[in-house]
Amino acid sequence: MSTVDSQQRVLSGMRPTGRLHLGHLHGVLKNWVKLQHEYECFFFVADWHALTTDYGDPGIFEENVVEMVIDWLAVGVNPGSAALFVQSKVPEHAELHLLLSMITPLGWLERVPSYKDQQEKLREKDLDTYGFLGYPLLQAADILIYRAGYVPVGADQVAHVELTREVARRFNHIYGREPGFEENAMAAVRKMGKKSARLYSSLRTAYQEQGDHEALAKAQALLKEQQNISIGDRERLFGYLEGGGKMILSEPQSLLTPACKMPGLDGQKMSKSYGNTITLREPLQDVEKKISTMPTDPARVRLKDPGDPEKCPVWQLHLTYSSQKTRDWVVAGCKSAGIGCLECKKPVIEAVIAELEPIQKEAAQYIRDPDIVRSIIAEGCETARECAKATIQEVRSAMGLITW
Ligand code: TRP
Ligand code: SF4
Repeated sequence: MSTVDSQQRVLSGMRPTGRLHLGHLHGVLKNWVKLQHEYECFFFVADWHALTTDYGDPGIFEENVVEMVIDWLAVGVNPGSAALFVQSKVPEHAELHLLLSMITPLGWLERVPSYKDQQEKLREKDLDTYGFLGYPLLQAADILIYRAGYVPVGADQVAHVELTREVARRFNHIYGREPGFEENAMAAVRKMGKKSARLYSSLRTAYQEQGDHEALAKAQALLKEQQNISIGDRERLFGYLEGGGKMILSEPQSLLTPACKMPGLDGQKMSKSYGNTITLREPLQDVEKKISTMPTDPARVRLKDPGDPEKCPVWQLHLTYSSQKTRDWVVAGCKSAGIGCLECKKPVIEAVIAELEPIQKEAAQYIRDPDIVRSIIAEGCETARECAKATIQEVRSAMGLITW
């Protein structure tokens, strides 16, 4: 599939760090489930990414990979709508990473904000490695190998998508200017047939001479419809339209996932490293226990002490789980000391249990039969590989490597 057809493709990856929790569900997974209906989706387990920070822990991956995909499936990620696969099973990611490393200035990687940030935050880990420095470029390869149009990411990863765009632009700039580009492009125009060729040329002129963006969009749509020109020609025509060279790699856009408000049990962000999570597989009686013992507004020492929901982590859960009516009841009851904290937590406990129960039922099926999960992954890998191979073939050829 060419650059031009893949603009509606979404790609995202997740590290196999262990059991997924409510933060993942509300922050990432619900968004994936929505996107899979709107776009062609590729979701993968970023096991090589996990190695860039945890190379000393090889025991954790294999089990985590299958368990994480079970969680994806249990919440409704559908292998019929999205290819689910494992990064290390698609070696084309690594080849593209290597090839892109040839043209990526070191300074671009040293300037990625997460590089210094993480080194300072994760002092207990050895992040003075070549792999860690290069990991945003590996991410760029993950994205570019599928020519994805959109990448759902949190705010901390936007800089990585920006780097991806810069690398794609640099690649196209260096390798898209094949000798005889102009002649090749004009020959490609003729191959579209008289009618389309004439339309393309007039739209291109309107865009290039008058900056008519509507004409640009129309011409792009016209190219997408063309059945009988090759991928290479289509990329030439796409580039020729905008005045540059051939567009071999396409620049993706971030789809910013709104920051998740899900608090952990202690009120900080829910995260495995803080030990404050409710996992998707949490035994339901533990859900009750964990929420019941959550801290609340410290001002409410006794039942008759009034409180303020804004100072209470349980309130954040109400914002995710409760109706307006329940929230009004909480605010009034908390401020007037009319309800107790345990009473206030009850609707949240019920809502979390109601949410997790069907997820756990789904998960149980896959836990019983992990072979199904393995075959879903194998199938996803195959779909992914087919697409990745087409891109790497073109990249090899653009860089002058042997392609036979
Ligand atoms: N780097 C991401 C993370 O650490 C995971 C990731 C890897 C990713 N490759 C990606 C996300 C490509 C989006 C697209 O969470
Ligand atoms: Fe928090 Fe509810 Fe207690 Fe108020 S009543 S402090 S909102 S748990």
